Amino acid sequence: MYKILDTEDEVSRYAAQRLLATIAARPEAVLGLATGGTMEPVYARLVGRLQGGAVDASRLTTFNLDEYIGLAPTHPQSYRHYMERHLFARLGLPRENVHLPDGLAEDSEAACRAYSEAIRALGGLDLQLLGIGSNGHIGFNEPHTRFSCRTHVTPLSAQTRRDNGRFFSDPGEVPTHAITLGIRDILEAREIVLVATGPSKARIMAELYHSPVDEALPASALKQHPNVTILLDREAAALI
Ligand code: GLP
Repeated sequence: MYKILDTEDEVSRYAAQRLLATIAARPEAVLGLATGGTMEPVYARLVGRLQGGAVDASRLTTFNLDEYIGLAPTHPQSYRHYMERHLFARLGLPRENVHLPDGLAEDSEAACRAYSEAIRALGGLDLQLLGIGSNGHIGFNEPHTRFSCRTHVTPLSAQTRRDNGRFFSDPGEVPTHAITLGIRDILEAREIVLVATGPSKARIMAELYHSPVDEALPASALKQHPNVTILLDREAAALI
């Protein structure tokens, strides 16, 4: 379940390889994708391999984990914008095949229901890629979110807003709420790969390693899943 590699570069290469293997095995695969600084080198590797013709990605479907409420898709810090910049535009993926929660939906409850249902209608996620927040969140499932929740609107914790403030020119601009895939949806993926790199993840990875399954630590839900890889570099694994 835990795989520790020396460097961030090796971790990114390994994660990209897992994604490529999934696409090679099933070109119409349904992938669950994540955002955040951790994923940038993963997507850079993936794009490099796909542009080199490693496998055909044109029939993929993707669903992102989360999106901020109130940011337009063109906002530079929206996750839609992130995905366009790091993956969708670079691969020329058909936009009807890529999905993110709609942070501007008028009826967000209905949008949440439809999001989980759309994934299930396609037979579920073949692989879910995850990062981890410094408080143990996955997607934007903050501590004490019920593991039985599907896609839902969530307030963001002060810690998460502080952590993500580094991407905004004014940290006060970080939205207060987001839409996230629920832990129940995440656990239905056939395979899960969680990636954590760098010293800022060392404390939470040690906590996760020693924690029982506990809603206080959202990532601990993964311990109930039969096919999870937790990929770490030496720095993120330093306190385990
Ligand atoms: C955000 C995202 C998470 C991501 C986490 C870690 O809060 N909602 O999906 O895993 O940040 O991000 P980073 O990789 O930048 O540390």
